[in-house]
Amino acid sequence: MISLEELLGIEYPIIQGGMARVAKAPLAAAVSEAGGLGILGGASMTPEELRDQIREVRSRTSKPFGVNLMLQSEFWQDQIKVVLEECPPVITTGAGNPSSFMKTLKEKGIKILPLVGSANQALMLEKIGADAVIAEGKESGGHIGEVTTIVLVNAVLKTVSVPVVAAGGIVDADSYNAMRAMGAVGVQMGTRFVASEEAPISPAYKDVVLRANERSTVEVGRRFKHTVRIWRNNLALRLIDAEYRGDEQEFSQLMLGALIRAVEGDLENGAFMMGQSAGLIKDILPVKRIIQNIVGKSL
Ligand SMILES: Cc1cc2nc3c(=O)[nH]c(=O)nc-3n(C[C@H](O)[C@H](O)[C@H](O)COP(=O)(O)O)c2cc1C
Repeated sequence: MISLEELLGIEYPIIQGGMARVAKAPLAAAVSEAGGLGILGGASMTPEELRDQIREVRSRTSKPFGVNLMLQSEFWQDQIKVVLEECPPVITTGAGNPSSFMKTLKEKGIKILPLVGSANQALMLEKIGADAVIAEGKESGGHIGEVTTIVLVNAVLKTVSVPVVAAGGIVDADSYNAMRAMGAVGVQMGTRFVASEEAPISPAYKDVVLRANERSTVEVGRRFKHTVRIWRNNLALRLIDAEYRGDEQEFSQLMLGALIRAVEGDLENGAFMMGQSAGLIKDILPVKRIIQNIVGKSL
């Protein structure tokens, strides 16, 4: 099977997850410069912002990078037009089905790596041409599915023949080696890169990750089919309460702009998306060190 390094033209099989509001050009370019694959979190960007950000990454690095699109975003159709014009080397897709534009992107030579939450979904996406799949377990930060990383990655590996990237709970050489031993060609990490020097977010957000233990996050919104893993703060408790009462309107109102508030450091009312792996992160490091600490101890 082709290696992730060969497929994407990168040095190390480590992808930085495309995190909305967090994964902007400084972070994505730094990860690519360090030999991984940096990804712009395109989900919340207007088409114009996306174009600017793609150009900014290109001004900072000549190495491959990617763009993450969430197919529930209000902008996604216009974002695809920008992608077709700017041609970033890689696209990852979150929520939604990329089948309607898969062929057009592939004709432009763009590699497509959809995130999957089940083996069936992975099989469907393999059939329509995914170059690899990213199996993301529910330990992850941000929007999550239902299955844990260890079960999901194993199930996906036993179902598809395209390369499988593991995501969810991976922060260090030990968790990386475990996924590689299982058969994953590489890993995608989100939370570990939130606590990086280059992440363009408030120091308070990074501090929340450092202070967390493995029980500091909660899942909210499953009842409304909008499940996210966030830090257990005051906002999280209010979200849980609204969900328990079945009040979707209040839930959505509380969530509106909550990731922006977290990025700005509002400890009370921000939705600090982060994975259970936050409990394993003890320092804020430059992305180069994060990557070297992993590949330096790979088995
Ligand atoms: C702050 C934050 C925002 C995220 N936003 C997105 C997003 O917009 N699109 C997406 O596909 N995944 C998103 N994710 C998921 C990551 O790309 C990645 O798959 C996940 O964080 C991996 O799990 P980990 O946090 O345990 O490393 C986000 C994660 C975090 C922590």
